[in-house]
Amino acid sequence: MPKVKKVVLAYSGGVDTSICIPFLKEKYGVSEVITFVADLGQGDDLEKISDKALKSGASQSIVGKLVEPFVDRYAFPAIRANALYSDKYPLSTALARPLIAESLVANARKFDADAVAHGCTGKGNDQVRFDLAINALGPDLRIITPAREWNMSREEAIAYGERFGIPAPVSKKSPYSIDVNLLGRSIEAGFLEDPFLAPEEDVFEMTSSIESAPNKPEEIEIEFRNGFPVAIDNEYLKPVELIKKANHLAGKHGFGRIDMIEDRVVGIKSREIYETPGILLLIKAHQELESLTLSPDVIDFKNLIDKKWSRLVYQGFWFGPLKNALDCFINATQETVTGTVKIKLFKGNAIIVGRSSKNNSLYREDLATYSHNDTFNHRSAEGFIYMWGMSNKIWAEANIDSSKEK
Ligand code: ARG
Repeated sequence: MPKVKKVVLAYSGGVDTSICIPFLKEKYGVSEVITFVADLGQGDDLEKISDKALKSGASQSIVGKLVEPFVDRYAFPAIRANALYSDKYPLSTALARPLIAESLVANARKFDADAVAHGCTGKGNDQVRFDLAINALGPDLRIITPAREWNMSREEAIAYGERFGIPAPVSKKSPYSIDVNLLGRSIEAGFLEDPFLAPEEDVFEMTSSIESAPNKPEEIEIEFRNGFPVAIDNEYLKPVELIKKANHLAGKHGFGRIDMIEDRVVGIKSREIYETPGILLLIKAHQELESLTLSPDVIDFKNLIDKKWSRLVYQGFWFGPLKNALDCFINATQETVTGTVKIKLFKGNAIIVGRSSKNNSLYREDLATYSHNDTFNHRSAEGFIYMWGMSNKIWAEANIDSSKEK
């Protein structure tokens, strides 16, 4: 392998990504490591993390403010796609990876690096998402993945770091493996690896437990324009603020916790806990508005497209031809998804209690009503059913011989 001069490393400040820095130099002969820290709204002290990168041997440390593009270009399209992997997981972690990969590649270009690196292990989904996105955006760049190769236990990793002046973590290590961004938290490992054991309360930070959620329900209204959420309770908000408000409201009422068995890309099943209150609420509301404003055939087909979209994004194909084509379909359906959804939040539930759309509703009271205002022509049903059921009748006459019974 030719020697690598400069590498841009995705850096989180944890033990693994910290020891990547000396490891890249020692084992791969890299002369310069530039770290990239992504601000995705996780609420960490990024200057401190950036500082740690420099102390761990990075020549430069970049902090990328990615919260806005994360919401605008990743979370909002996911809401339009009602994105739920396995009908459950709103892709909070998965959506962040291609965006981080974008920045890694852009910084590699800026600093004329010949490689990028990340600290993902060999059995997760994140490595797949990073590598596929980097390959799509910078196919000439080498990808170095120390954690797939070093085979160190946590203790060995800490000891290795100490050799290079990287201090062992001071705070008691959480027993869990956690990934956080503005959309939510993913919690794995520790006792959660037994899928029969219920999560304990210390796992959660963004959502109340059902027990401690308010005893009084709260009714809220979410307004959408062209499939994008724009206001909550008539307060028009910028996308990032809107997500924050949705997180707060849903989280307060204990809505947005997920406990599931997940099929990872690498073929293994894993037990995953998520709390993703805001995006889950917004997807639920969006889907409801679609039921009012889209025709039944479009809804039917879009369900398939949404499912496929979610799977592709989960599996790392954010930058790919099929994803692009599905986006075109989804975008074409969203022009009329404008209106308001009313939701009651109460003790872990988000119950849809109303929906309206001034200009795009396909609901027609004059046709749906059972009152005397009914304009539906009941008699035309006979002819319709005659033909609608014809092939079934022919089949029944040929195959169901009632005289043979008994
Ligand atoms: N299983 C989830 C996903 O694939 C969460 C991964 C969390 N990542 C992490 N590094 N802890 O999207």
